[in-house]
Amino acid sequence: MDIDEFKKRAYEMVDWICDYFQNIEQYPVKSRVAPGEIIEQLPLFPPEEAEAFDVLFKDFQDIIIPGITHWQHPSYFAYFNANNSYPSLLGEMLTAALGAQCMSWQTSPAAAELEERVMQWTAQLLGLPGTFTGVIQDTASTATLCSLLSAREKFSDFGVNRDGLYHREPFTVYCSSEAHSSIEKAIKIAGLGKENLRKIEVDEHFAMVPGKLEEAVARDREKGFIPLAVVVAFGTTGSTAIDPMEAIGRFCRKQGIWLHVDAAYAGTALLLPEKRELIRGVEMADTFVFNPHKWMFTNFDCSAYFVKDKEALIRTFEILPEYLKTREGDRVNNYRDWGIQLGRRFRALKLWFVIRTYGASGLRENVRNHVRWAGELAQEIDASGEFELMAPVPFATVCFRFKPGGVTDTETLNGLNARLMETLNDSGRLYLTHTKLNGRLTLRLVIGQTNQGKAHVDRAWEEIKRTAASLPHPGEV
Ligand SMILES: Cc1ncc(COP(=O)(O)O)c(C=O)c1O
Repeated sequence: MDIDEFKKRAYEMVDWICDYFQNIEQYPVKSRVAPGEIIEQLPLFPPEEAEAFDVLFKDFQDIIIPGITHWQHPSYFAYFNANNSYPSLLGEMLTAALGAQCMSWQTSPAAAELEERVMQWTAQLLGLPGTFTGVIQDTASTATLCSLLSAREKFSDFGVNRDGLYHREPFTVYCSSEAHSSIEKAIKIAGLGKENLRKIEVDEHFAMVPGKLEEAVARDREKGFIPLAVVVAFGTTGSTAIDPMEAIGRFCRKQGIWLHVDAAYAGTALLLPEKRELIRGVEMADTFVFNPHKWMFTNFDCSAYFVKDKEALIRTFEILPEYLKTREGDRVNNYRDWGIQLGRRFRALKLWFVIRTYGASGLRENVRNHVRWAGELAQEIDASGEFELMAPVPFATVCFRFKPGGVTDTETLNGLNARLMETLNDSGRLYLTHTKLNGRLTLRLVIGQTNQGKAHVDRAWEEIKRTAASLPHPGEV
């Protein structure tokens, strides 16, 4: 492909992308293909000879697109969003074009300095303490791993990096029973052992009970374990529950325990000053992560990781072979030392485009709408008589289930709600997913897709009610 063909194809791609967004509602939200259906259409061997781009692009449309679930569809309500937006896409296009590998300041000074500034802006936008320094990671899973590795090193005086974990008293880590699986994964990777992760009981709102945490820490100290870190959730994945940060933060301070905040989804809600009350005590945290790539209109991947002790982070990861030495040394931010990977994408660019194009007020307005629509839907569910709210709605995720009159058996209701979800998702008209709360199958409807309006939420609710009414009553099957 030469530059002239590239230019022609690039214009065609832009046209295709615009058509895609203009017609996105004509696609089924969730892909309808069966397992194996895509791979069967792909040749076993790569082409020996160059193929025409037209042929390739036809295959993209005929083979790939049917196997895509449309995360940017305004009737996407599943998992948590992985939003993009027009400015973010433009930033990604330029990042791809520049193709810069931003491991050191020298390998692209603008990437390093823009990342520094954009992370400062992000902290201000969320009202985070000025003591935090930010760095962009690929995902919240990576950020949480970085946090636990930093804790492990700081608490062992950087001895585990040197000697390994041999001949040491085992560290213990604490999170709620509702915390995200990335914490257990991080424990495994960090060599701490998943048997040393304590999943603390939650209250009726699915938030960690500080008293239970205190008991677990005391029990462990008695047995000779070393309590290392607590991970609090600001918005659990199941029901967006909020662990009581202030009480847990005070306890961690008193006990000298590292505190990490997993705000992967709900961190974006802190754009709204009225939500900051929910995170009182965050200044006691050592580290904090949230994903602009979820709800803040920025293409996957972009995870904002904030640390109080930058030196501990860097000392955990830095290694300086001769070929990476540069004359600027540590007078500049060499982000290769701020995380796991050496090579880094220029992710700050898309975030800069998003923040400047929306402006703080635009970001707030969008997120505030999502929160308001979620509150309104929660009220309708509550008032419906046939549906039941399953958890508080502090953000824009609504947890509920269908509970027609007279049906109380949990297994029957679980079966009914699973059927409701599958029927809705198979319709192609919307996509939502589930969790289990206290053994009860719960539907999660996550509002906040970039292209969503209130009408999409209203339509989804009508569709849910209509579909539920069309299911055979459990007593009749
Ligand atoms: C609360 C919470 N933490 C962590 C994660 C992991 O995020 P990532 O995919 O960025 O690793 C998720 C993903 O949904 C989440 O909901």
